[in-house]
Amino acid sequence: MTDSGRDTHFGYKTVDLDAKQGMVDDVFRSVASRYDLMNDLMSGGLHRAWKDALVTAVNPPRSEQPFRLIDVAGGTGDVAFRVVEAGGGGTQVTVCDINPDMLAVGRERAAERGLDAAVAFVDGNAETLPFPDKSFDAYTIAFGIRNVPRIEAALAEAFRVLKTGGRFLCLEFSTVDVPGLDALYDLYSFNVIPALGRSVAGDAEAYRYLVESIRRFPKPAAFAQMIAAAGFRRVNAKPLTGGIVAMHSGWRL
Ligand SMILES: C[S@@+](CC[C@H](N)C(=O)[O-])C[C@H]1O[C@@H](n2cnc3c(N)ncnc32)[C@H](O)[C@@H]1O
Repeated sequence: MTDSGRDTHFGYKTVDLDAKQGMVDDVFRSVASRYDLMNDLMSGGLHRAWKDALVTAVNPPRSEQPFRLIDVAGGTGDVAFRVVEAGGGGTQVTVCDINPDMLAVGRERAAERGLDAAVAFVDGNAETLPFPDKSFDAYTIAFGIRNVPRIEAALAEAFRVLKTGGRFLCLEFSTVDVPGLDALYDLYSFNVIPALGRSVAGDAEAYRYLVESIRRFPKPAAFAQMIAAAGFRRVNAKPLTGGIVAMHSGWRL
């Protein structure tokens, strides 16, 4: 059965579910070569601290014990490299992303870092992962899930590919809940980010989409419920930096 004809949102625009993926792909094709620089500029380097918090939660074994992580919507490999560097010799990461341009940048970066044996880059859709059931010890998705048209399908796939005892971890922009910071954050999001997008990545529209898609994403409690509905247990939502970002987690038990 196809969902074609059902509506969703691309930023603030209402679009067909299938059209959304094409528009998201255009955004990341257009920004791939400048993506990592833009992350640093837009977040003032904060994305590094958020990713470090994610890696601490993944907690890969420091030993030779085999540990397989899938990093979905893993783009240019940032989370994968951090996990491999934190883990021991048995840590293997598969980056799975729908965008060949983002993956190409990731492969280059892995080779430069000498991490190509520990990190594999696979073209694939979060909604239909090209991996067998119960094949990973942990699943991460950082700043990716709000781009996926069918979030429930992606959560069901996360559950399917995790082994029993495996952990789901998601970093995503969230809802700022600190008085004063919310107004500042709005000003920054709707003015500074598109301007940076225009001058550095040559694409203000792409970055306007990013800001709008953040505002449309479900609130932490609603997203936690969706994770639980996919079958995960001990679901938790942890705000980071005043709620600019949230880390959601759950276990396949
Ligand atoms: C904001 S980037 C995040 C990249 C990386 N995780 C990071 O934190 O730097 C979002 C990524 O989601 C990917 N993406 C969008 N839709 C996807 C889908 N349906 N399946 C897999 N990846 C998808 C995009 O290609 C892009 O690389």
